Amino acid sequence: MIENIEKFIAEFARSLHKETFVKMTLGNYRGNDAHLQKLLVRLVETRKGKRLFFLYRYDTRDTAKNFDFTKGLKIIRQVLGNDFFSGHLFTTENDFQLDVGKKGKSRLNAAKPTFKATPTLEHNREKQIQVSPNSFYLKALGITTDGGEIRAKQQDKWKQINKFVEILGSLFDKSALADKKQLRIVDMGSGKGYLTFATYDYFKNTRGIDVKVIGVDTKDQLVGLGNDIAEASEFNDLQFVHGYIGDYDLQDVDILIALHACNTATDDAIFQGIKAEADLIVAAPCCHQEIRPQIKSPEMFRGILRHGVMLEREAETLTDGIRSLLLEKSGYLTKLFEFVSTEHTPKNNMIVGTRHKKKVDTDVLTSQIQAIKEFYGIKEQRLENLLT
Ligand SMILES: C[S@@+](CC[C@H](N)C(=O)[O-])C[C@H]1O[C@@H](n2cnc3c(N)ncnc32)[C@H](O)[C@@H]1O
Repeated sequence: MIENIEKFIAEFARSLHKETFVKMTLGNYRGNDAHLQKLLVRLVETRKGKRLFFLYRYDTRDTAKNFDFTKGLKIIRQVLGNDFFSGHLFTTENDFQLDVGKKGKSRLNAAKPTFKATPTLEHNREKQIQVSPNSFYLKALGITTDGGEIRAKQQDKWKQINKFVEILGSLFDKSALADKKQLRIVDMGSGKGYLTFATYDYFKNTRGIDVKVIGVDTKDQLVGLGNDIAEASEFNDLQFVHGYIGDYDLQDVDILIALHACNTATDDAIFQGIKAEADLIVAAPCCHQEIRPQIKSPEMFRGILRHGVMLEREAETLTDGIRSLLLEKSGYLTKLFEFVSTEHTPKNNMIVGTRHKKKVDTDVLTSQIQAIKEFYGIKEQRLENLLT
């Protein structure tokens, strides 16, 4: 039995050395943790170089940790044959399947490789949990317990944090910023800072980018708390400042974030981003209150928009649609999509603007916006006013 386990581990070590490693799964768990099911191992690029990304899959949650190769191999050696009794190793040369029976018998099979090439590490990143649940700031913000477990009531927030970081990472990779080694990010209306911390942690620690992040909020208490936790986490380039989004003196910014900044505070934030020529503007609007009272239902929609819920949705669609057209008019490519499923939060639309230098037919966009406003009797839209 030991011989097959050793051979399996040797193949794992060899694949790391030869850079043929794709991924590995350990299963058939018979250890002491009643909830642990699997251990998934992949490669991830970090500031310190390539690391083994261990994803521990429990019945109701996942936890993750990165290890250097030596430590990772040591752990695999400890758990294989003691806690996990099967292993599936994928390399670009072979697939290896190890099975260890109860009576000590074992089998190791080699088969043709399922994967012909190693995955790009960016691809890996997209599919994984982006944020380590053991991070101090998650404990301090009440997302995780001292043991690094996600609190039951914070599961939605946890999903949102990971989804946001995944989206941001992917947007960054596809943008003109992709090769930048220094980034300046401002989070407008940062609140308690869950997403601000996760953004900093991701770029600084997972991606190894020299990032400066500033969170802006009007609430002194949250600004103070954020700075305390940033200091305790030794996140030296993360800072929270007291201020109003519209008044904030935004100088240099690569990525402007505004998540759930209430009502027209989203317009103020988008305007700040456009003015400062941010390469990426990422907004998840909420509390769309400006347009709804202005809508004069067109005759043909009267029977539909007399229902409050329909009018509310229409107002949201129009507000975010107009914002998106205004971003396009200002030289941004836009995407509007669902950020996280409504099952996890009702505040779930995301508007993304990526700056480009192509010529824009502003007249066409102006006429489109004007036609929509006239059709619905809308007199004013905050972002449009700011841009005029
Ligand atoms: C719903 S919270 C969202 C917090 C965080 N961005 C998130 O998504 O978890 C909205 C935050 O925006 C802040 N805020 C709203 N309007 C603002 C303004 N004009 N200037 C600065 N902060 C503002 C509020 O104080 C609040 O903390």
